[in-house]
Amino acid sequence: MSLLSVENLGIDFGGVRAVDAVSFDADPGKVVSVIGPNGAGKTTLFNMVSGVYRPGRGKVILDGKDVTGLAPHRLAERGLSRTFQNLQVYLHMTALENVMAGRHLGERCSVLADLLNLPSSRRRTRQTEEIAHRLLAMVGLEKVAPIMASSLSYGALKRLEIARALAANPRLLLLDEPAAGCNAVETEEIDKLIAEISSGGVAILLVEHDMKLVMKISSHIVVLDHGVKIAEGPPATVSKDAKVIEAYLGPHADDAHALG
Ligand SMILES: Nc1ncnc2c1ncn2[C@@H]1O[C@H](COP(=O)(O)OP(=O)(O)OP(=O)(O)O)[C@@H](O)[C@H]1O
Ligand SMILES: [Mg+2]
Repeated sequence: MSLLSVENLGIDFGGVRAVDAVSFDADPGKVVSVIGPNGAGKTTLFNMVSGVYRPGRGKVILDGKDVTGLAPHRLAERGLSRTFQNLQVYLHMTALENVMAGRHLGERCSVLADLLNLPSSRRRTRQTEEIAHRLLAMVGLEKVAPIMASSLSYGALKRLEIARALAANPRLLLLDEPAAGCNAVETEEIDKLIAEISSGGVAILLVEHDMKLVMKISSHIVVLDHGVKIAEGPPATVSKDAKVIEAYLGPHADDAHALG
């Protein structure tokens, strides 16, 4: 049994099939990438898996349990965490506070203990802070812990969002274009970071347009085009698939090396 099984997932917007009958699995320690041209349905698929959209058809099975349509915070409690294509960090908070904000989903908290500032609450805050510092170090941002997120570079914010997602202690992490807008050096850092998270036993679902990164890091690739899965398999197979090359390069494509 896989950690995540997506079964025949689909959704329509105003009669348009944005995603249709998409199935795949994800497992601990593996990176499954979802690729496809702009508008193929990748983010919509992530939105359904992470509870942002309620699927119109199909099922999301996490740990053998049907979690289709559960709210994002309920899925977070079950170990699903994500980042967003359009950054969703708190710009008016420091880097450290952003990561600490991601932590509350992974721990049991008592509002009363927090209100009364009980020792248990203070202890938990200290622990949360320590973990947040460790996560900032892991993504190479320990030096900017006290800096306002609004002052950080785009590349740093992308990594900050990953640290915040990790703070919830996920077993399944969805990354929607973590390297978008990053330069070559920053992309290399993201590459190493994803490999490190994956080797720690987290199952990773990745949406990314940087094909060099995708081909290098993925165990398995799912290719969407117009909301439909047109191919899946290991990078070496998918990059040579005629349907995939056509989807990316058009019907007269003869450059089979374009996908790496
Ligand atoms: N909330 C929505 N309402 C209406 N249509 C939507 C909505 N969300 C997505 N769509 C449509 O669904 C299709 C898939 O969009 P989606 O954002 O999932 O593509 P994508 O593969 O993530 O593209 P990109 O690579 O550009 O990020 C598009 O036609 C988009 O316009
Ligand atoms: Mg998208």
